[in-house]
Formats: sequence, structure tokens, C-alpha cells
Amino acid sequence: MLCTGIAVIYSCSHKAAPTIPSRPVEAVTGNKPDTADFASSNPLVAGKAIFEVKCTKCHQKKNTGDWTEEEWKPILNSMVKKAKLNDLQVSQVTQYVNANAKKS
Ligand code: HEC
Repeated sequence: MLCTGIAVIYSCSHKAAPTIPSRPVEAVTGNKPDTADFASSNPLVAGKAIFEVKCTKCHQKKNTGDWTEEEWKPILNSMVKKAKLNDLQVSQVTQYVNANAKKS
């Protein structure tokens, strides 16, 4: 009985901070949830999602094969700024574009 009393007093005077249940991080899949996988660990898959969703906000999807890797460099340089991509996304979309660029 004594033990229970102490336990109650203890638990009342030491309020623990409310615990926030941890939620699984959901990938932001934009407007094409069936194909867009931004969270993929494969840069080509994530890059494709970025290319198809983030890079189609202002214009139609461009054909990666219309430019060589060299030609893409200055284009991507300005476009990733327009699309407000972070460093990881820039790297992913660059790898996707280069993998599908016109072979020079
Ligand atoms: C904020 C709007 C916007 C976003 C987002 C955007 N673009 Fe563009 N893009 C433009 C405009 C405007 C043009 C045409 C005028 C120009 O070349 O600046 C263009 C042109 C292009 C061209 C043609 C360049 C040429 O020399 O003919 C390519 C390729 C391209 N964009 C790729 C991309 C890629 C890849 C992304 C994503 C990383 C992207 N764009 C995101 C606005 C955007």
C-alpha cells in the first residue's frame, strides 16, 4: 500500500512530456502517384519522378534524348533553379537525364 502511494505521488509530480507518436515518413508523390517515386534509393527512379513531376510544372515533359549530356549541362543548371530542387534532387535528376541523354 505504501509503495502504491509513493508511486502515485511520484507519477503525479513528474509529468512526462507528451509523447508524439512517430509517423512513417510518406513520400511526396506529386500528381502521379503511380509512377512517381521521389523516395526511391535508386537515383534513376527518383530522378525520373522529379523529371516527370517537378520539371513539367511550366512546360511539357522534355525529351531527354534531344540533347547530349554536354548540351544538358547549361540547361539543367538553369532549370534546377527554376524547379527549386535541393542538392539531392539535382543529383538524381542529373543522373536520370545523363543516363537518357543523346549519345554524342
Ligand atoms: C519555373 C518554370 C520551369 C520549371 C520548373 C522548369 N522549366 Fe524548363 N523551361 C522553362 C522555360 C520558361 C523554358 C523556355 C525558355 C528558356 O529556355 O528559358 C524552359 C525550357 C526548357 C528546356 C529547353 C531548353 C532549350 O534550350 O531549348 C528544357 C530541356 C527544360 N526546360 C528542361 C527542364 C527540366 C529538366 C526541368 C526540371 C529540372 C525544368 N525544365 C523545369 C521553365 C521551367
